[in-house]
Amino acid sequence: MRDLITSGLRKLVKSEERYQPGDRHAQIVSVATVKGGVGKTTTAVNLAASLAADHQQRVLLIDLDAQGHCSTSLASVVDDAAGHVPLSEVLLDDDGREVLDAAVSTAIDGLHITVADPDLADAEGRIGQEIGKELLLRDALEVTRTHYDLILVDCPPNKGDLTLNALVASDYVLVPTDLSPLAVQGADELLDTVMKVRRRLDHQLQVLGVVLTRVDGRTVTINEEVRETIDDAWGELVLDQHIGINTRLSQAQLAGEPIFEHAPDSRGARHYRELATEVLERLEQI
Ligand SMILES: Nc1ncnc2c1ncn2[C@@H]1O[C@H](COP(=O)(O)OP(=O)(O)O)[C@@H](O)[C@H]1O
Ligand SMILES: [Mg+2]
Repeated sequence: MRDLITSGLRKLVKSEERYQPGDRHAQIVSVATVKGGVGKTTTAVNLAASLAADHQQRVLLIDLDAQGHCSTSLASVVDDAAGHVPLSEVLLDDDGREVLDAAVSTAIDGLHITVADPDLADAEGRIGQEIGKELLLRDALEVTRTHYDLILVDCPPNKGDLTLNALVASDYVLVPTDLSPLAVQGADELLDTVMKVRRRLDHQLQVLGVVLTRVDGRTVTINEEVRETIDDAWGELVLDQHIGINTRLSQAQLAGEPIFEHAPDSRGARHYRELATEVLERLEQI
């Protein structure tokens, strides 16, 4: 007879016991834009690594992209993921699961990362059918956020329901873009979505900044034209520290290591270290 009652209050009572709340209150930052290949994952991974290693923050990196590039980018430092629950299950199981169920430790002190989850692609469609579909990630972070100082969410390259979940769960959004017109348009679209989330959902989500990535010192004239447009449109939102083009960054990704382990003296490492400092300063000021 007991099996008749599988939902409702019984589940609620069970889930409340699963994790003890910690004593932290993470600031949650989505790394998002509508275009792929502009450095979202590279930025999320290296920012997370620097914030943990150089600034002693407890950091959780959430990989919301079905391609699982955060895990590949950190493959050499991630601990054994056996027994962890994929994020799509955390989001869609109405048993009160927490993102902590998906979080794996790494060799970098203070840095945890959710396991790669190829099922996130299919989950997108199922999320769309849920009641309160944009609140799933927020709810699954309720206890999780009390265990970290910072949570970074690496988003898929679109404005779908996973990205919407990331934005609604976040306090801030960081928008990477390179200087190509399509990337700038993609960033603009994402910023537009942020404004809609604020207005329609009465949400306090703030733009932490736009970070210019893959900046190539050789194409100065084109860069200058695009820079002018960007500065006119986004002004103070553009972070001082840009990320120069540096092949060491893609080599590090291939090797499955943060840039600081792979090539600590490279330009890419320097730029991401500076970016982490600037991001922390902004977080303290806002
Ligand atoms: N500053 C950079 N210099 C050189 N290559 C970069 C830089 N940033 C990213 N890349 C490379 O560009 C590709 C796309 O970057 P990625 O971070 O995966 O983008 P996204 O997550 O937006 O799709 C990857 O191969 C990555 O190694
Ligand atoms: Mg990516």
